Amino acid sequence: MHPIDQLMSEHRLIESVLDAMEARLAGMTPASFPAGFFQEALDFFANFADGYHHYKEEDALFPMLRTRGIPDQGGPIGCMMKEHVFGRSCLAGIRGKLDAARDGEAGAVEAIRAYATDYVGMLRQHITKEDTVLFRMARYVLEPPDVEKLERDYANQNNPRITAAVREKYEAVAARLSSEAVAVTL
Ligand SMILES: [Fe+2]
Ligand SMILES: [Fe+2]
Repeated sequence: MHPIDQLMSEHRLIESVLDAMEARLAGMTPASFPAGFFQEALDFFANFADGYHHYKEEDALFPMLRTRGIPDQGGPIGCMMKEHVFGRSCLAGIRGKLDAARDGEAGAVEAIRAYATDYVGMLRQHITKEDTVLFRMARYVLEPPDVEKLERDYANQNNPRITAAVREKYEAVAARLSSEAVAVTL
């Protein structure tokens, strides 16, 4: 698959867990805090959305786009990098309040609601900007050898962060979190 198509298919998977998180936030109270969901969602967002997908963008795609003249600082790449950093701070915020929220502390549950709401909102518009602006630019500026190099980088099974096993694991996690979220909204 073309590397940009790979990244866009990963966006769809990430959006499915953002949908699940939104569904959970809608009915969330301190008495019904879904600790298990947040534990698994944190794992998905840290190790797939960030550790796998953002890693593939930051490690391989963005450096190549810089060499093809797409502006970095003050431009679209710098903006995307800042949003990745902001996302990590939201996840750290959720992680830091998880034990207290599991114990039923209302303030911790509300803090998680705020961090999670910020995260969902940011990541949705981040994905839209990549799909409609940066990735369109990428398809235009990348030369065939660039695309081949990205294909090789993304298929490198010696890089433990991006193996097929990681992708398969988090596809299964996303499917389960989505079906469970649908069940709680019925
Ligand atoms: Fe990104
Ligand atoms: Fe992305």
